[in-house]
Amino acid sequence: MNLSNKHILDMTTLTREDIGLILETAESMKEVSERPIKKVPTLRGKTVVLFFHEPSTRTKISFDVAAKRMSADSIGLAASGSSIVKGETLIDTVKNLEAMRPDIVVLRHSAAGAPHMLAKVLEKPAIINAGDGMHAHPTQALLDLMTIKEKKEKIEGLKVSIIGDIQHSRVARSNIIGLNKMGAQVVVSGPGTMIPKGIEKMGARVVIDADEAVKGADVVMMLRIQKERQKGFMFPTEREYARLYGLSPRRLGLAGDDVLVMHPGPINRGVEISPEAADGPWSIILDQVTNGVAVRMAILYLVAGGA
Ligand code: CP
Repeated sequence: MNLSNKHILDMTTLTREDIGLILETAESMKEVSERPIKKVPTLRGKTVVLFFHEPSTRTKISFDVAAKRMSADSIGLAASGSSIVKGETLIDTVKNLEAMRPDIVVLRHSAAGAPHMLAKVLEKPAIINAGDGMHAHPTQALLDLMTIKEKKEKIEGLKVSIIGDIQHSRVARSNIIGLNKMGAQVVVSGPGTMIPKGIEKMGARVVIDADEAVKGADVVMMLRIQKERQKGFMFPTEREYARLYGLSPRRLGLAGDDVLVMHPGPINRGVEISPEAADGPWSIILDQVTNGVAVRMAILYLVAGGA
């Protein structure tokens, strides 16, 4: 249960105890963001590079906010503004970054496995995966677990239904692993073309009918259709998709009275989620974003050597 200098690459390599430690640390970090002066000296002298090879709003900004709230020096680099556009490889780019002695490199990349490859070739900095292709998004799963625990006071035994484009979703994969480790029951639902073969082996029950998936759920987690990763058409029209899989107030009414609605963002209003479902009293979508800062503060702190 010591995450000092460890890479955070996926949910598979984190134990239930590691997850518990991160969530507990995040709960204590959250208070810093409520202070009039939102800064503590915890990571003074540490350098964090945020290397985003794919667009991001929430993950990039919350890592940046988290690093700055703990007085670390954070430096952002986008692929479009780096020498990758001149032909430099990812490994050469990151070896050059390593030569400047950062303590932590946060990487988002469209290729699955990119952070794992860097973790093998770099000697010093810890690598934190901020989302790699369709593979993993561990910090998103951790902030989702924190938000569920905060609202429901437990994770064990809850029914969590994840609905949408499961096939292309690193968020779904990381959440299925994390929720199973913490004792939740996971249901996945979506068009057959968007449900990957063998997902049951990860610990998810497949229910194609979205009404059935929502019935009795404690948490409904909606996912965006990831058009940027899809090859060919996977459903007839957005209107048809919204009717069959979108979260409307009617469909939400099939869940438990105290259901929570989650979405990792960005949301496509009117497609996978109606404005009423996204903005209603059951929605904790913006609480997820708030907790994203606390979880990333906890991870930076623990990886940088905090006990
Ligand atoms: N949830 C998430 O990863 O959002 P961004 O792509 O905006 O970082």
